[in-house]
Amino acid sequence: MEGKRLLLDVRPGATEPLLSSGDLDGDWEIHASDCIDGAKTLVRDRTFQVGVIALNATDLPTTAIEELLVATPQTRWVALVKAGTLADEALRRLIYQVFFDFHTLPLDLARLRATLGHAYGMATLNNTARDCEGDCNMVGQSPPMRELYRAIHKASRADAPVLIHGESGTGKELVAQAIHKSSARRNSPFIAVNCGALPANLIQSELFGHERGAFTGAHRRMTGKIEAAAPGTILLDEIGDLPLDLQVNLLRFLEDHRIERLGASSPMEVNVRVIAASHVNLEQAVAEGRFREDLFYRLNVLRLKVPPLRMRVGDVPLLSKRFFDQFRAEAGPSVRGFSSGALQSMANYSWPGNVRELINRVRHAMVMGEHALITAADLGLTAMTPAGDMTLDQVRDDAERLVIESTLQRIPSNISEAARQLGVSRVTLYRLMQKHELRP
Ligand SMILES: Nc1ncnc2c1ncn2[C@@H]1O[C@H](COP(=O)(O)OP(=O)(O)OP(=O)(O)O)[C@@H](O)[C@H]1O
Ligand SMILES: [Mg+2]
Repeated sequence: MEGKRLLLDVRPGATEPLLSSGDLDGDWEIHASDCIDGAKTLVRDRTFQVGVIALNATDLPTTAIEELLVATPQTRWVALVKAGTLADEALRRLIYQVFFDFHTLPLDLARLRATLGHAYGMATLNNTARDCEGDCNMVGQSPPMRELYRAIHKASRADAPVLIHGESGTGKELVAQAIHKSSARRNSPFIAVNCGALPANLIQSELFGHERGAFTGAHRRMTGKIEAAAPGTILLDEIGDLPLDLQVNLLRFLEDHRIERLGASSPMEVNVRVIAASHVNLEQAVAEGRFREDLFYRLNVLRLKVPPLRMRVGDVPLLSKRFFDQFRAEAGPSVRGFSSGALQSMANYSWPGNVRELINRVRHAMVMGEHALITAADLGLTAMTPAGDMTLDQVRDDAERLVIESTLQRIPSNISEAARQLGVSRVTLYRLMQKHELRP
């Protein structure tokens, strides 16, 4: 990392820098800011490897910190906290999800020095892995994602088959592309075939090709996808759906790198790397006789698991920011970002449809929502799961606002009907709308 060590020291209200470069090992370049806004300006101009921020549950709005963290994906942040503040649940969650480490005050210079050294080391490591991340467009800094980047990096240096396992929508295809793009085959084709999307009689031609006249209706010779991918990479997606007889053909190809077009008189050699992906558990498919054991062992040389989004909720703010930027053109000009309620609801949600569901919810909220800051309701999520530090009154208030808001969205032009469905009078509904600053 260009031999430069940068530290951003953010301590709201602080009158002098916490550290001087003489306090630390190595040549740190230290930039201090006494407010979050000042820090946001600093990170616009340069990338910091390490940031130190004093967190105080009472005087820092969480959203401001979140915005700073989202804007600094390459920075490893260390929180400075007073011992007592760790009782605050929201603060604890924030530290746990996005911080590299924390340091409890009073300052112990030797310990902090070691922590900052580690943080710098991790930032450097991550930068090596970013080669892949940059090429392949993958977003996420959580420990499971960093582990995945390392696995992608290793798999891309090898040429053995890869088996990618992960729930639907976790990013299996993106991982396969990442391996291809960082491998020696990067300048050759990458072709993905969904083995579950075609009927059994077509998938054979699709994969292996056929000669003219191989069967009724085969008027022309067709090149199969495996041959077309040479000398690149073929992704066999949903490999668990491959019919048993074709599993034999594939096994033969993996063994001797030869394929036989349907109707051809002799096999031909093809140089292609095979990546297979599956959302079903293939071991179980083997146990149930739906998948050939020998093929499973042939494919299962390098195995990568893509973690479900619920195992990396710390990445949700980064991912949602990415998709927000991606779909900005489709949204109204007044949509500016996510409300803290929206961020909270996204952090509490279990994301059964994983990243694909996140994309759909963000896109829907951006196009259909009518607030400058996207709300939990715009995302179709409830803000009902309360954060640990909310009073009962705050929870009631949130719930009230949410129900009224969604009713008004459903029945925008009929206040009487909305009031009837909510079981209150029109006057009460108007009063509540005023209280929550809602308009029909
Ligand atoms: N880490 C990530 N960063 C950015 N985008 C991502 C990430 N993971 C997934 N996506 C996006 O989410 C969508 C779903 O990813 P992908 O198609 O790779 O998932 P999949 O596991 O193959 O899903 P399925 O099992 O449904 O085929 C894609 O639009 C992809 O670009
Ligand atoms: Mg897929």
